[in-house]
Amino acid sequence: MSKLAIFGGTPVRSEPYPGWPTVSEKDEQGIAQVYLSGKWSKGEVAAEFERRFSERTGVRHAIVTTSGTVSLEMILRGLDIGYGDEVILPPYTFIATLSSILAVSATPVFADIDPETYNICPAAAESKITDKTRAIIAVAVGGCPPSIDRLTELANRKGIYLILDAAQAVGAKWSGKDIAGFGDAAEFSCQNTKNLPSGEGGIITTNDDALCSRIRSMLDGSHDKFYTDHNVTEFHASILSTQLDKLDDEIIRRERMAAYLDARLNMLPFVRPMKREKEVTVNAYHLYLMRFDSEMLAEKGLTRDMVLHAVNAEGIPLTPGYMPLYSFQSVNSDAVERMTGRKTDTSPLENCERASYHEGAWLFQSVLLADTEDMDDIADALEKVWENAGELAARLGKESV
Ligand SMILES: Cc1ncc(COP(=O)(O)O)c(C=O)c1O
Repeated sequence: MSKLAIFGGTPVRSEPYPGWPTVSEKDEQGIAQVYLSGKWSKGEVAAEFERRFSERTGVRHAIVTTSGTVSLEMILRGLDIGYGDEVILPPYTFIATLSSILAVSATPVFADIDPETYNICPAAAESKITDKTRAIIAVAVGGCPPSIDRLTELANRKGIYLILDAAQAVGAKWSGKDIAGFGDAAEFSCQNTKNLPSGEGGIITTNDDALCSRIRSMLDGSHDKFYTDHNVTEFHASILSTQLDKLDDEIIRRERMAAYLDARLNMLPFVRPMKREKEVTVNAYHLYLMRFDSEMLAEKGLTRDMVLHAVNAEGIPLTPGYMPLYSFQSVNSDAVERMTGRKTDTSPLENCERASYHEGAWLFQSVLLADTEDMDDIADALEKVWENAGELAARLGKESV
């Protein structure tokens, strides 16, 4: 009888990991107060949240909006980036990073990721700069800041903007400073799965007064060119405020669990935690990323996806992660060419291919809100699968996954 759960053995784990979001009476009371006040449109509750967010991040301006996607779009519009301009982005990210660029009719230019962090590689970004480049959007994948010092130096040297897509990185810090304060502006998502959720929502941060007033004027209708009603309701702002109260405790817990899991994974030969640059003082861990050694798996006749199937059967919700954005049919469509006036270069990029198809894997953030024995289950399941690699390879067969 097989030991592996995928073939009928007993799984390592049968309990689910903690769910998300977590709610409290404070959320309920806040929402009830807004409801009873009858002031439901953006007002004092939102303004107070913005003050608090700007104070905790040390950034001059924080602006709440209805989503991370429109926040990025408004930043690009606020910087007057549009048709004919090129914006560099990594292909290993959520589609919103790309769609914000297309929304302003700018041309997306993909730069490869660093194989050890899965964040944009500064050298790859530099190699894509042309006289049309106006900005780099650097994503903090999984909540881990990208190479901010090198990207800032690059942007300054080339006279282009640096925008941080920190959708997943609320609370992350680089050299002791909140990620919200780097680049020309940063954007956060408050969509339901995010570490600071309000169902839908976004936050823009910037130290640039002129950019802030251009963005605010788009929201209040005083801008001479654009009006875009992406104002949150007071209900959203109230949830953001009460959810913010518990963010720092959760950050500490996720960091602690991630460090524990890192140590366990470091003892396994075929999988490793992501590299953490020394300047990353806080990783927000919206996702816990790991990467398999695809050569080592291949020697055993395994692929990443075969391992993931087997680990999932053991009760561990490990998922394969992002597909490269350049492989999406929509990016290759005529509609994109009409929007931007040009074809987007969708050539495969080596490190992204490896991450997406052969090596990357994720756990969702709320897994890290569990305890050390729950982290042990993850490493134990991986270890068990590795110990039974021969059977897995023989019975599952490469073609079936
Ligand atoms: C990297 C990244 N960028 C942008 C977004 C867009 O955020 P939203 O869903 O709030 O529009 C997300 C959210 O899923 C994201 O993960």
